[in-house]
Amino acid sequence: MKKWILLLSTTLVFAKFAPNSDCKSCHPKIFKEYQSSMHANATIFKDPIHKAVWLKNPLHKKGAYRCARCHTPAANNMKELIAPNGIGPDPKNPTQNDAVACAYCHRIKKIKSGFITNKNIISPEPKKYFGARKDHIASPYHQIDTSNPNFLQGNVCMGCHSHKRNKFGLNVCSTNEKGELENTRCTSCHMPQVQGSVSILRKTATHAFHGFAGAHAHSKMLAKYVDIEFLPHLKGFEISLNSHIPHAMLLHPARVAFLKVIVKRGGKKVFTKVEKLVRILGANGKPTPPWLARAVVKDTMLKANEKRDFFYDFKLESGDRVIALLGYRLVKPPLAKKLNIKDPLATKSFILKKAVFIY
Ligand code: HEC
Ligand code: HEC
Ligand code: HEC
Ligand code: HEC
Ligand code: HEC
Repeated sequence: MKKWILLLSTTLVFAKFAPNSDCKSCHPKIFKEYQSSMHANATIFKDPIHKAVWLKNPLHKKGAYRCARCHTPAANNMKELIAPNGIGPDPKNPTQNDAVACAYCHRIKKIKSGFITNKNIISPEPKKYFGARKDHIASPYHQIDTSNPNFLQGNVCMGCHSHKRNKFGLNVCSTNEKGELENTRCTSCHMPQVQGSVSILRKTATHAFHGFAGAHAHSKMLAKYVDIEFLPHLKGFEISLNSHIPHAMLLHPARVAFLKVIVKRGGKKVFTKVEKLVRILGANGKPTPPWLARAVVKDTMLKANEKRDFFYDFKLESGDRVIALLGYRLVKPPLAKKLNIKDPLATKSFILKKAVFIY
């Protein structure tokens, strides 16, 4: 009995994950897509934005890389990594470089709700992977379990993406403020079925997209979930954003979205207006870094399923082209400056959707 308990506790504490490279030979399409996702690039070695914020975070001074729980959850030295002892992330450690690893995600057995963040409960069986595809052949490398409700409901994401509170109890990354997203199929939009086989051992028409369409990569795949509408008036016109997203358009507090409206007459710009959509955290009405914030000081972000109308007091003439661009930057430019992020990707303007209307 004693031996059994010992064995069980060691497998729980030292749960090791098969490396991503093990999956490549049989799942080449999924492996390749995954390399382009932020899950494969969530480390401070590959994500300059994450690195810059980590360097400013007070936990960096303490030497406790607690970010590992979500950014490098397959690390084999997790305990030391999150403890305040200064060992810090190690670029030579392959288990840290596997970032949000294939085997880690596919071993999430349950999600435990928590006040600060939720927590993933990992299955102790290293070679049994959860999936949602009922129709499958056997794999010579691993077992397959398609009975896990989090995979079947498409929300196995909520252990890391639900919420994150700071020491003042403020939800700084509020995907799921009141648990309203528990029954949302995140996979339906972020992992749609795309062409190509699941594995090389059997031909299937499609597989779940593992590039995880998001703000960094493949955002065009998500454009259809926000409509841009145009309505002319006697004295001006209206552009509406109609969101079909079950969460705010952007979630991370570093982001800024914008709606740029241009009117062209005979090829010349005769009107330009830019609206900014942001969620700013702070204290006493002023912006602060997330770890010092006590409140949301401003929130103009497009909310879940919101339709928002913007009125323009500009009289259109017949033949005018009204161009509406809905886009965003990953990091607000003044913040990028403060964080000393040099990577141009951080402040590049991404266009999620463009619409042109002729009056
Ligand atoms: C509970 C899980 C969790 C923890 C712990 C966590 N993060 Fe994250 N982090 C996420 C998720 C999920 C995202 C993606 C959010 C999004 O894009 O909306 C993210 C995104 C980020 C981003 C944006 C990256 C980019 O490229 O735009 C930064 C910066 C960041 N985290 C910093 C940190 C730092 C620093 C720590 C540790 C002090 C940390 N995070 C701890 C889950 C976590
Ligand atoms: C030797 C080949 C092989 C290797 C290596 C391999 N797999 Fe598989 N895997 C398969 C086959 C075959 C299937 C079933 C495909 C089908 O039904 O068409 C499969 C299916 C799956 C499924 C789908 C379960 C479902 O039905 O929804 C998951 C998840 C999975 N593999 C994860 C992994 C991960 C993670 C790795 C790497 C750690 C990996 N596989 C490595 C062969 C392999
Ligand atoms: C183990 C924790 C974890 C799990 C589980 C997880 N994610 Fe993530 N996810 C992250 C982290 C951390 C990031 C941010 C990486 C970065 O930017 O450095 C991220 C980033 C993303 C992004 C990219 C956001 C952007 O800014 O481009 C998308 C989209 C995403 N996750 C969707 C999902 C979906 C859908 C699921 C469930 C099927 C899921 N995630 C499960 C940790 C996780
Ligand atoms: C109806 C489609 C849809 C569903 C369902 C959905 N999302 Fe999204 N998600 C989007 C769109 C659209 C964006 C905006 C992407 C952009 O602006 O580039 C987005 C953005 C994101 C981002 C990036 C935000 C940022 O600030 O970087 C993350 C992370 C994310 N979603 C996670 C989730 C999770 C977790 C779930 C499940 C609870 C989910 N999404 C459900 C459509 C959806
Ligand atoms: C962030 C979590 C996450 C990561 C990381 C991840 N997967 Fe998946 N994977 C899922 C989810 C969720 C599904 C089920 C998708 C659905 O319901 O359509 C899935 C489905 C699959 C399937 C079955 C394909 C299908 O059409 O359902 C295979 C095979 C697979 N994953 C292998 C991998 C491999 C190999 C990697 C790494 C290269 C990987 N996964 C990384 C969450 C993840």
